[in-house]
Formats: sequence, C-alpha cells, structure tokens
Amino acid sequence: IYKLYENENLSDNELLKLLDEIDIFSFTDKNRDLLFELSRKKRSIYYKDDVYMRGLIEFTNYCTNNCDYCGLRNKNINVDRYRLSKEQIIDCCKEGYKLGYRTFVLQGGEDNHFSDDVLVDLIISIKKLFSDVAITLSIGEKSKKSYQKYKNAGADRFLLRHETANKEIYENIHPNMSFENRINCLKTLKELGYQVGAGFMVGLPNQTNSVLVEDLRFLKDLDPEMIGIGPFIPHEDTPLGKFKGGSVEQTLILLAIIRLLLPQVLLPSTTAMGTLDKLGREKALKAGANVVMPNLSPTNVREKYEIYKDKICTGDEAAHCRGCIERRINSAGFKVNMSKGDYFSWDNIN
Ligand code: SAM
Ligand code: SF4
Ligand code: FES
Repeated sequence: IYKLYENENLSDNELLKLLDEIDIFSFTDKNRDLLFELSRKKRSIYYKDDVYMRGLIEFTNYCTNNCDYCGLRNKNINVDRYRLSKEQIIDCCKEGYKLGYRTFVLQGGEDNHFSDDVLVDLIISIKKLFSDVAITLSIGEKSKKSYQKYKNAGADRFLLRHETANKEIYENIHPNMSFENRINCLKTLKELGYQVGAGFMVGLPNQTNSVLVEDLRFLKDLDPEMIGIGPFIPHEDTPLGKFKGGSVEQTLILLAIIRLLLPQVLLPSTTAMGTLDKLGREKALKAGANVVMPNLSPTNVREKYEIYKDKICTGDEAAHCRGCIERRINSAGFKVNMSKGDYFSWDNIN
C-alpha cells in the first residue's frame, strides 16, 4: 500500500496480490484503514476537502441497445419510456443554475430521436444561456463526426464507462456491441479534446480479481480525467437479474486504489453506492471519491429512469437533494465546491 502511495503505480502482479490480500481480511482490518487513510491524503494534495457537484439530467430513457444488466435495455417492455423536450431540459438547467450548479450532465439511453442536429441545438442553447457552465454528455457510442459536432457546439466532457476491460466478458453482456468500438470511442473522445470519463461496474458476473486488475491497468494507461465506478445492482427485468451484484465494501477498496493510481482523477461517489447503503456515498467520499451528481430531472420522470431497482432520490425535488447532499458531504468531513470543477492540472494553476 505504501509503495502504491509513493509510486502511484504497481505491477499487475502486485495489484492482484493487494486485491487478494485485502479480500481475505475483514472490513475493519488495519490494511483497509491504511488504504483509505493514504487515499484521502493523496486526494487532499490536489483537491483538499472539496467535493464537486454536477447536476444530472436524465433526458431520455429510450435506448436502442440491450446491455444485459441495464433496466433501460430496448427489450425491457416494462419501461414507461419518456423523452424530455428542449424546454424541459432547459428548465432543469435553469433550476440547477439557481441552486448553484455549474456543470450539467446530460445522460440518456442511445436514442436516435436526439439526432446530431437536435443535440447541437440543445448544447448551443444551454451555453448561450449560461456562459460559465460545463456540459458533460453521457449518451453512448457515436461516430467521430458526431462527437466532433457536439464538441464544436460547446460540450466539454464525456462520460462513457468501458464497463469492463475484459473483451470476453464485455461481449458476453453487450449483445451486438463490440469491445473495440467502445475503446475506440474513448480514444476518439480524448483526441477531440474532451475531458473523458471511463469506468466500470463492480461485481459483474465472472469478474475475478485478475479481471479487476485488467480494469485498473486499462484506466492507468488511458489516463482519463474522470472515472465512474459503482456496484452492479441486478434489475429483475434483465438477463442478469438473478446474479448477485457488487458490494459497497469492494467498491470502496477499488475507489481507494484508483485514487492512489490516478491521484488527480475526478471520481464520483455514485448513486448506486447510496442505493445499496444509506451511508454509501459518505463512505465513498472517505475512500477517495470527490464528486457527486445529484439529480435535476423532473420528479415525474425520475422513477422511469430505472437502470436498477430501488434507486434513491426518485421522489425528491432537486432543491431537496441539493440540501441533503450538502449535509451528507459535511457530515463525512468534506465541503461542497460549486465551481465548474475542471480536472486538476498544474497547468491550470501556473
Ligand atoms: N447509455 C449511456 C451509456 O451506456 O453509456 C449512458 C446511460 S447508462 C444508464 C449509464 C451507466 O449506468 C452505464 O455506463 C452503466 O455502467 C450503469 N448501469 C447500467 N445498469 C446498471 C446496473 N444494473 N447497476 C449498476 N449500474 C448500471
Ligand atoms: Fe442503453 Fe446505456 Fe442502458 Fe446500455 S447501459 S441499455 S446503452 S442506457
Ligand atoms: Fe437526493 Fe438525499 S441526495 S434525497
């Protein structure tokens, strides 16, 4: 653990040994405490005790894909599908802006209704209204040409989890999708100058510790600005509905290791953590996470964006979540930072 702290890297074998050894001990084991202590120390070098806030707008739950884990998959007929209009999305941004948010994350299924022209118009309109905000897109795989258009329109960041760095597992749970294309999309986004977010789910079927090492190595090599990881939570209306899913404990360990491997990364404490454990988001912050993404979507559609069961905050107004999350952040010993919260780089400071 000290070597990881000092070198900000370990060999694959050393990472595997670390994961295996930590697995054997109980959660209160002193090695885990040391891991969390060092990850917090590392994070404070770059980000002090700040937690960055992003307003999440889930603007469509239509999706042409059929990811085996996701409740929004096309073949799930039990979903009440919705799309927000441009006006509704802008209203969410207006409310978010009033609450202090300076990053909006537009997330949705892969929905052809939102053509490049529609998205470009939306991005330009948001940027025109609020010149000091960052726009993050999380809308899946597109062509280089499309990614370029959104960038030209003013999009700043893009979240596209790689989901798993193991090609075989990836293709097993993503019918009609290719691992190569996913990775190429991430590389293209980097090339185009987006701040890029990759990441994976913890607890996918067949995910051994050596597969997790593949994920960690992939992230270290890609060197993204953001990393989204969270436990896989089975959804009963999906092919993986009967699987066990990921745990909060394992995710916390991986968050801490990621903080030590990529010290400057923006690392969200995810809603999935808060869903599995009332204090999951606070624990994630203590393990090394430094971003939260409260929901700004209208309350009448929130339940319909059901990627997994029992998602939290589905009945809560944006203003309520804004206050709730601040109390949680403070109780964990951190403080809210409402700025745009770009990736830390010494270049920005000098
Ligand atoms: N469609 C876009 C995409 O796939 O990149 C963005 C929306 S998708 C719902 C956002 C993320 O939700 C995925 O990257 C995936 O990791 C996560 N997700 C989907 N189903 C999940 C589940 N059952 N448990 C935990 N996370 C899940
Ligand atoms: Fe669609 Fe994304 Fe869900 Fe896959 S994870 S089914 S692409 S919304
Ligand atoms: Fe939504 Fe607590 S953050 S209710």
